[in-house]
Amino acid sequence: MNNTETAPTSGVTYWDYIQLDQLLSLQSPRTAAHDEPMFIMVHQAFEIWFRLAIYELRGAITALESGDTQRGIALLKRVGVILRAAHAGFDPLMTMTQNGYAEFRDALRPASGFQSSQFRVMEILLGIRQVPSADDTAKERFHWEVVAEQAGETFVNFMARYQQELQGIYDQARNNNLRTLMLRLTEQGTGKTGVEAYRHLSANRTQMPELAALADAGRELQAAMLEFRLSHHKVTVFTIGDAAGTSDAHTPVHSSCAAYLLNVIKDHSTIFPELEAGI
Ligand code: HEM
Repeated sequence: MNNTETAPTSGVTYWDYIQLDQLLSLQSPRTAAHDEPMFIMVHQAFEIWFRLAIYELRGAITALESGDTQRGIALLKRVGVILRAAHAGFDPLMTMTQNGYAEFRDALRPASGFQSSQFRVMEILLGIRQVPSADDTAKERFHWEVVAEQAGETFVNFMARYQQELQGIYDQARNNNLRTLMLRLTEQGTGKTGVEAYRHLSANRTQMPELAALADAGRELQAAMLEFRLSHHKVTVFTIGDAAGTSDAHTPVHSSCAAYLLNVIKDHSTIFPELEAGI
């Protein structure tokens, strides 16, 4: 663009452009507790970062599907940077004491971050697999549905609100989530299948730099998701200790929210199992 071709002036202002008034009108504490506004705003900031991460992850998937691997890798790297920026948001919560949290904790029952649908969308786009149901092997279910059945209101009302939407996103992404796309591209590039494809890539990284960079970007996202869960666990233990969770929803099967969250970390940290087994 030269000097005479400037963008049209729309007269837009900073506050209108980012809809600042609306944004700043969305914080409504339920108590007079000093720490509650921080708790609300930290969650809101996370959801905004998740929204951006999902947008970029979808962009990466579209690029990889269309054969533009370079662009796909660049956007995946961006998702990793976004998630790591988001994780710094846990730090303010680490300054809250157990007494500070107790002052407003009852006012938010039985709500829980478990009900963050955007976190579930990220899991789906990355490629979590549904698990067979214990009572009906023909039926598949999300890993959190199992918890929903074991537990109470927190999980049940989440499923009632989001089950259909998440199932739709899952069905769309079934063959084009990051896990399946990375595997397919690596299989095409190496002529091998499954774990063998990643094993071959690992032994021949210098001959296949683009596929190697794609695998690295995938592992980086896997690490970023694990880091979310570990940082979240740290905050949880620090602010509610090893006692029952905000929702107490896990108590039929786990001794405490800390035990429940550790179990999720143990079972769901590997998002790309073929990649992990092959490198
Ligand atoms: C003082 C701070 C926090 C406490 C005490 C807390 C507590 C909990 C508890 C107890 C659970 C387990 C489910 C349940 O029993 O209800 C949970 C899950 C979850 N929370 Fe938090 N949380 C906190 C901050 C956050 C923040 C800032 C986020 C950001 C969005 C978040 C997102 C999540 C997510 C996504 C899950 C599901 C985790 C998974 O399935 O791996 N939490 N939280």
